[in-house]
Amino acid sequence: MTTQQHARDAIPAQPVTNSDAAADTQDDITAAIETVHAQYRAGVAAGHAEENSPRLDFPPYRSSLLRHPTKDLHHTDPETIELWSPAFGHRDVDPLESDLTIQHSGAPIGERIVVRGRVLDGLGHPVRDQLVEVWQANSAGRYIHKKDQHPAPIDPNFTGVGRCLTGADGSYEFTTIKPAPYPWKNHHNAWRPAHIHFSLFGTDFTQRMITQMYFPGDPLFALDPIYQSITDPKARARLVATYDHSVTSHEWATGYSWDIVLTGSNRTWTETEEDH
Ligand SMILES: [Fe+2]
Repeated sequence: MTTQQHARDAIPAQPVTNSDAAADTQDDITAAIETVHAQYRAGVAAGHAEENSPRLDFPPYRSSLLRHPTKDLHHTDPETIELWSPAFGHRDVDPLESDLTIQHSGAPIGERIVVRGRVLDGLGHPVRDQLVEVWQANSAGRYIHKKDQHPAPIDPNFTGVGRCLTGADGSYEFTTIKPAPYPWKNHHNAWRPAHIHFSLFGTDFTQRMITQMYFPGDPLFALDPIYQSITDPKARARLVATYDHSVTSHEWATGYSWDIVLTGSNRTWTETEEDH
């Protein structure tokens, strides 16, 4: 695992305005994505290492140009950080917090799903007692956030946050509602693929990792500069959950499987700054 900056959630767009950020067309963005990807493929063909992480400076993702790190990371003493970092235990996390559909008086609108997987280290060993947090938009693509004012309904029965601790085998499971795509201001008519944000705390606070899970077959993948900021197609594919009929339950919920690998060449892409 690598140390990551704290990443806040998306602040999706209001309806498209005439701001400069919205002046680019999807074709502009798609062409810019392909330019970077072509350079990456040429580099790999020439013997450069494959990439597992997003490009910090990825021009099609407009705000990455303004806020990516420009200086070397600070090296810190992990033991010192542990003196003032938060700690979590089984008494702090109620098992019911993993069900995002039971937090209000009624059932939320949308497609009930179960997302299940394991948190593994680079050797395939389970990562136990790990705090896993998720946050997401509702089934209409709306977040409960004052800056998300796009015209999709808020669901009074869905907040969109949950958490759990991994089991002895590294397993986690959430019951939730399938989120919808939502618009954002990167360019004109920009829409994010449906996704669930994941945060994981390792055994040390300095191991925190933040990433996103996507759903198979989303038609917006090719258009999304955040997803495409990961230049390697194999690394992108690792962010997509698998529909798993063994997780699906009779007359209740459809199921998805998604494992998270924290270290090594198969590691899951991690966010390094404020991502949507
Ligand atoms: Fe988001």
